[in-house]
Amino acid sequence: MSGELDPRLLTRAREVVAAITGFRDDAIATEAMERVVRAELTRGRSAGDLLGELLQPVSPLSATLARSVLVGETYFFRQPEHFRFISQEGVPAALRRGALALRGWSAGCATGEEAYSLAACLQSSLPHGFPVEVLGTDLQESSLETARRATYGSWSRRESAPRLFPLYVELGDREVQILPVVRRVTTFAQSNLLAPLPERFGRFDFILCRNVLTYFTPAARDAAITLLSRTLNPGGLLFLGAVEVDRVPPGMVREGPPELQCFRLLAPGESVAPSSRTRASDRARAPEKPERPAPPATKPARAAAAPPPEPSRIHLTALERIEEGDEVGATAVLEALVRQSPDYLPGLLELALLRERSGAREAAVPLMRTLRSRAERLPPDQLVDGPEALPARFYQASADAYLNQGTLE
Ligand SMILES: C[S@@+](CC[C@H](N)C(=O)[O-])C[C@H]1O[C@@H](n2cnc3c(N)ncnc32)[C@H](O)[C@@H]1O
Repeated sequence: MSGELDPRLLTRAREVVAAITGFRDDAIATEAMERVVRAELTRGRSAGDLLGELLQPVSPLSATLARSVLVGETYFFRQPEHFRFISQEGVPAALRRGALALRGWSAGCATGEEAYSLAACLQSSLPHGFPVEVLGTDLQESSLETARRATYGSWSRRESAPRLFPLYVELGDREVQILPVVRRVTTFAQSNLLAPLPERFGRFDFILCRNVLTYFTPAARDAAITLLSRTLNPGGLLFLGAVEVDRVPPGMVREGPPELQCFRLLAPGESVAPSSRTRASDRARAPEKPERPAPPATKPARAAAAPPPEPSRIHLTALERIEEGDEVGATAVLEALVRQSPDYLPGLLELALLRERSGAREAAVPLMRTLRSRAERLPPDQLVDGPEALPARFYQASADAYLNQGTLE
């Protein structure tokens, strides 16, 4: 059935999908929703009937619409640096804390490659027989069925992600089967990242939530991160995808290089060094006028123009606007900042991310390109001043991850 669909129906469908998934408006694929609606109309239902169903708090149609927009792209040992870090740093640290078992969660696991990769990583990094458990959760039940079958084709293996730890055996030319020892410790359950994980699943030492929050509104992303952090054991590590967050989540500290996007939950009573953001705000609050009066000018005809505020100070003003929910105001501040200080990398990244979140990807891409070319010119380890001092390679990696996104997903 072709032809125009009732716009009220599509608007309501969009609202329902956004509420269930947490997706930004521009991350909700209209064609996918339209296919679902048209299929229902073809089965003889009227637009009014569908609209009535979508006005219910929960309904089968809402769930079908939400499932239709989910993107389940994944593969084994994606972002291998996370698995290396877990093996080389995370596991030894957990053992030093006295852990007697290690538990991982692949949150938004799609068809399970990430959960099995995490289980294999933990098992290979621990003494034989050390207890390991990994949970994979997703909203998409059909993906979880694939995960439970534990048989994968060539699409799940990519050159860019080496097989870091023993994970599967070949089944003929095309397929692979997850090793029984890995499969035994990995379970899957349906769960929405916007709702608390039921208590029975316990707490975790390692959580991977990657390439999921990139589709979320800022509010949904913050809510999901808060829920994730509540399920970590003290000292546990949360790994997010590149460019999914641009600051350290509350109650956590950064671990490893910034581009790793790894955050550790503080142990109770553990003191935090004041964050560089606080230090930057302190700098921003420094007295504007020199404490000693400047020597009198020989020609007092015109007052000297005040120097423009430091870029990181303007940036902090924009961050405050974002926190207040004033994205329009924040955009205006950042646009002025980028015009005034085109080499200030944190400003380019902030503005690009803000535009991306507001759905203006076409306006974010050129900024990310500029960011990459400016970051490339700096030595990778050179610290770039901003609300948080980060090395140039963080900005390059963020821009690369963003610009390569379209080719991977
Ligand atoms: C692109 S895949 C990423 C898979 C894996 N984490 C990786 O990085 O390879 C994103 C997954 O997140 C799931 N997802 C999206 N929104 C979700 C939500 N609100 N709750 C749970 N899962 C969600 C989708 O169903 C999809 O399987």
